[in-house]
Amino acid sequence: MGVMCGVFAVSAESRTDAGELTLQGLRRLEYRGYDSWGFAVRGSDGPATITKDVGKISEADIAFPSSGEVISHSRWATHGGVTQANAHPHRVGRVTLVHNGICENYAALKQAFPGHEYVSETDTEVIARVIDHYLGQGMGPVAAIRQAVEQIEGRYAVVCFIDGQAGIYAARRGSPLIIGRNETETYIASDIPAFLTETNVVNYLDDDEMVHIVGGKAEYFNLTTGASVQKRDIAVQWQYEQAEKGDFAHFMIKEITEQKDTLKAAIDHTDTELNRAVNLLRECNGAYFIACGTAHKAAMVAEYFFAEVSRRKVNIVAASEMKYFQQFVNDRTAMIAVSQSGETADTLEELQKAQTKGAKILSLTNVVSSSMARMSDVHLPINAGPEQAVASTKAATAQMALLLLLAYAESGRTNEGRELLHTVAGNVNDMINPRYEEHIAEIAKSIVERENLFIIGRGALAPMAYEAAIKIQEVSYIHAQGFAAGELKHGPIALITDGVPVIVLGDDLETISNATELKARGAHLIGVSAQRDDIFDEWIRVPDCGTAQCIASIIPVQILSYHLAVLRGVDPDKPRNLAKSVTVK
Ligand code: AGP
Repeated sequence: MGVMCGVFAVSAESRTDAGELTLQGLRRLEYRGYDSWGFAVRGSDGPATITKDVGKISEADIAFPSSGEVISHSRWATHGGVTQANAHPHRVGRVTLVHNGICENYAALKQAFPGHEYVSETDTEVIARVIDHYLGQGMGPVAAIRQAVEQIEGRYAVVCFIDGQAGIYAARRGSPLIIGRNETETYIASDIPAFLTETNVVNYLDDDEMVHIVGGKAEYFNLTTGASVQKRDIAVQWQYEQAEKGDFAHFMIKEITEQKDTLKAAIDHTDTELNRAVNLLRECNGAYFIACGTAHKAAMVAEYFFAEVSRRKVNIVAASEMKYFQQFVNDRTAMIAVSQSGETADTLEELQKAQTKGAKILSLTNVVSSSMARMSDVHLPINAGPEQAVASTKAATAQMALLLLLAYAESGRTNEGRELLHTVAGNVNDMINPRYEEHIAEIAKSIVERENLFIIGRGALAPMAYEAAIKIQEVSYIHAQGFAAGELKHGPIALITDGVPVIVLGDDLETISNATELKARGAHLIGVSAQRDDIFDEWIRVPDCGTAQCIASIIPVQILSYHLAVLRGVDPDKPRNLAKSVTVK
């Protein structure tokens, strides 16, 4: 059924190696989904040849025929098995199609458009069927696609070939599609790194728009009216090398290491840019920060930052829970979205609901072209550069750094915030080095066989304990749980038995006293703090960063998670069941 995946298509009239080019580009989108993959390669005549299989695209060995036009797809299944039949592209009649998103009414559409024997369990095949139906009625490709996608309920990005029609067609609502172009070639991709080796000139396809590409030409249409749409060429700043692993074994460790620089980049905003965000916050009388997963844990520290620095109480809500609080949102509410991708469906949908009620939208995202960034009244980029590993690391610390700066800006002390964060960036730069990593790798060896692991922290370190658990769970599959340090004695302490590892974030008196209670029950304590306390069995030093302690403290845990994953034989960039950008609900 629904998928949230990587899509990459190439139309390059004068090239014969579009297959290989697409393969390389699709591999750079693998973080979006890696259950199965597929290609449709167009020869000089006849229908496109489809090659698809289960498994990771990075491990696929494919011999492509010579071609200048290819559509490709890397899948993350939500329902429906990971099978060759369910892999994209899907072909019905004249239409060969890939899809990212979810067609919620696929069953009803199947009934409404009978006469085709379905070979997959997906919600995608029916989209190809409906387009083919309208082509069969004599409609042209643009009209047939418009007519078909109008009937899809849910979010989608579809890309297709139509037999007998030159070029590639694509349409979007809610799932990203970006067009890259040079003089003779055009690309359609779910994310820019797919084609960054070829061009950095892009057009963004907006919701309810479609595009037809042939060679170096792209024509855009509004899906509702059919009217032609003009697009502005935008030169993106990301460099191709930024999206490559280089000498690192995995993207995760590369991105962890990049935090030497990304913290500085995150706060690289002028007073004018920050003041636009501050004015939005000040003009509203309620503020909801919404986000998912790691971004949510990063947003949770904002509650502490705003309380401590600007004495303001803000609300932090997991986006998937926000619907229960939408009743309090009105035209005086500030909605602040925190997201690496800017495409996460749970967050996006709540923003859209709030926007229709007149709420003001501020977003902090890494992907500047994202749906969230573009719908916002004010957008602040977190400037972390492409993050490819499924586990978010540098984006999370960049989000926290920018949130802290925002709290300082709101209290009228922007420069004080900048100074603090520059010091923190310098400290982190000194902290991340090979010896530091080796020390943490040794600790990883000592706990790698453990089935359970706990993390505690207090204040802004409590959300970091939750985040530490996410990091360890998602890449090492060890059962890890984070707790506010003071909460332990109210129940979870029953889980502590001899030798159970507990990571203690912080060295303040109360946290140490909680850690002592655990030690008395046999816990093996791993301190992550500025000062070593005698009760720690092992200790990982982090520099003293004051209000920003949470930012520095999560980094050693990221490194620990990475080494636990490697020791347990898990590919940390592509852990099971996950995908980077969760564009389905
Ligand atoms: C992070 O390690 C996770 N893989 C995940 O929790 C992620 O942070 C979440 O899905 C939100 O994504 P976003 O930042 O792109 O909105």
